[in-house]
Amino acid sequence: MQPDARGLALSTDSPAAAAAFDAAIGSYLRYRTDAARHIEAALAADPGFAMAHLLRGYFAMLSFNRANVPAAAAALAAARPGAERLTRRERRHLEALAAWIDGQLWRTLGAWEAILAEDPTDVLALRLSHFNYFWLGEVAAMRQSVLRAKAGWDEGLPGFGTVLSCEAFGHEECGEYRAAEAAGRAAVERDPLDLWGTHAVAHVLEMEGRHRDGIDWLDGLKGHWEGAAAIVHHLWWHRGLYHWELGEFDQVLALYDERFRNPESPLTRAMPDLYIDVQNAAAMLWRLERAGVAVGSRWDELADKAEARAGDTLSAFTQPHWMLALAAAGRTDAAQRLVASLAEAGRGADSLAPVHAGVTGAVAAAVLAHRAGDWPRVVDLLWPIRNELWRLGGSHAQRDIFRQMLADAAARAGDRTTLRTVLAEEQFGRTLPLTRRRGYAPLAIAA
Ligand SMILES: [Fe+2]
Repeated sequence: MQPDARGLALSTDSPAAAAAFDAAIGSYLRYRTDAARHIEAALAADPGFAMAHLLRGYFAMLSFNRANVPAAAAALAAARPGAERLTRRERRHLEALAAWIDGQLWRTLGAWEAILAEDPTDVLALRLSHFNYFWLGEVAAMRQSVLRAKAGWDEGLPGFGTVLSCEAFGHEECGEYRAAEAAGRAAVERDPLDLWGTHAVAHVLEMEGRHRDGIDWLDGLKGHWEGAAAIVHHLWWHRGLYHWELGEFDQVLALYDERFRNPESPLTRAMPDLYIDVQNAAAMLWRLERAGVAVGSRWDELADKAEARAGDTLSAFTQPHWMLALAAAGRTDAAQRLVASLAEAGRGADSLAPVHAGVTGAVAAAVLAHRAGDWPRVVDLLWPIRNELWRLGGSHAQRDIFRQMLADAAARAGDRTTLRTVLAEEQFGRTLPLTRRRGYAPLAIAA
């Protein structure tokens, strides 16, 4: 047995393997691109090191890409021999990965929560549950989970900054902006490379309409983003969103091409269809077009990726983004295949099946109808589920385009009652008036 960086027992007798495992966790928490290299080092030092195999499996699942599930299953299989010698905590990680591969996300989360109840400093269980709650839209559970674990942490333990940054994002998505900003800034003060804390504060500034502050915030930290993974694309997307709100569309397009959707950049070439990158790109092109900005042929390469990922429904929130690209690029057959694949996924037995059946399919169909100019159909599809959109996962800032889409369609359909209701609901809980939000201002003035 060897202790990890927080003193939890690891079933390996190799100090080198344990050190490499800690380095891999550190890379994961800081969104560095070298985590896989550290896992390889851990396994080179101890080929039977179960937690290193499991971490490799977790990383495969984190891509939300069905093509990577066999790699996760292989990692799980490699961790199984000698499972009876593992600690209870490690066996729960094994159960969590097995359930995740089976698409049973609630069982997965249950295993991580069981770990955290006994070992709140298991930062891997903490970070993975935070991430998966987020992509299930379960923001109250996301915040509760980290606050519960935080009580068992000492501020001096390595990884405490991650607790703060997860706390910050949990508060932010629950609308507690003061607590969110304080925790996020504290995380970044501890470590300017804390990209999740950076991101949480960026969300606060977006939600409160503090766009210039947001630009300054990210500008002051961008020097720390070298060597980081695709989260930096998302941070640049957030900066683009501030500029979009301010009407600075040339800057948005420049950021799109140079910072968050450059197909030739090494990061994008390594993972050209990564879910978060697709979300960033499609959502921004849609916003730009809605503001009257021509985006040229930018939809086409996204539509190519969408066609290639047909039937991969592991990420609910990405589905309507695939559809944004397919619809915009006029890929009608592929768009219909996407609708059909979501209907089929809705009949499945995994945790996302009810999400696809209840929400994802309707939103994807609404995206297609919006592009076709069938405004009443957009309203028919989105109105009944407008308060269920959270089930797609993702953030308030990200999901906003589907609310904009409903409001826009209601206005174009001449449905003033629906429009006024949607606008009134959109205003609820926001400090910034709709007349100062680009996605709603023209509609609010007309209503
Ligand atoms: Fe974000």
